[in-house]
Amino acid sequence: QMNRQFGEGEQQTLIIAHRGSKGTHPENTMVAFLEALEVGAEGIELDVHLSKDGIPVVIHDETLERTTNGKGWVKDYTVEELKCFEASAEFGAEHKEATIPTLEETLEWLASTQLLLNIELKNGLLPYPTMEEKIVELVNKYSLEERIIFSSFNHYSLVKLHQLQPEIETAILFMEGLYEPWNYAKSIGAKGLHCYLPVAQPLLLQRAREEGTPVRPFTVNEEAHIRALIQGGSSAIITDFPEKALQIRRSL
Ligand code: G3P
Ligand code: CA
Repeated sequence: QMNRQFGEGEQQTLIIAHRGSKGTHPENTMVAFLEALEVGAEGIELDVHLSKDGIPVVIHDETLERTTNGKGWVKDYTVEELKCFEASAEFGAEHKEATIPTLEETLEWLASTQLLLNIELKNGLLPYPTMEEKIVELVNKYSLEERIIFSSFNHYSLVKLHQLQPEIETAILFMEGLYEPWNYAKSIGAKGLHCYLPVAQPLLLQRAREEGTPVRPFTVNEEAHIRALIQGGSSAIITDFPEKALQIRRSL
């Protein structure tokens, strides 16, 4: 079993595969998740919306056009309908078998691995009123509390998640410099700092470490950035290229 707090007590920078292995496989699909497992990533990050029938589904955008051959809003289709779309739009003829996973299918699979999972709730634009309850219920059903981190740009949602299930770590997503973000995170019951890469400067990494606060910047794809964050003691990095990041980590 991995350390329960992603990064806490870990010396090594963990490699988290962004939307699965987004750089090489169709994002947020089982092929991308399997790739992350095969190359040896410690964790996966994925994005969740709710379908018309209120089921948590794994897809990044509110709409279908960019990543699938469907059109319109995810929230306007039932799971059964969503399952009919190909979810490999950015990969041409390759990976035509890829479909939109439900969160439940993904968790069921994850339970058979040792992977950590960062579930990002995409409830910034659309409110999805019961989303937190549904996701917490699924995590509890598969007893994955110790391997999950919830994150969201919607920090009200993080407060709600923490109230529903305080055993599961919540992490704040943010794009720009916050003053002493570890204090802010603690004030809303959150632990991790999931910041945009340019925010993750050496001083922030050092101060966060002194505060016992894990930092997991996104999206870290350039070799120089991967190297700098590993050498700077980042708890984890969220990357589109887990295989490459692991090679760099091994070479240091
Ligand atoms: O969770 C980190 C990162 O995934 C947030 O941005 O747009 O890739 O979901 P985005
Ligand atoms: Ca995300």
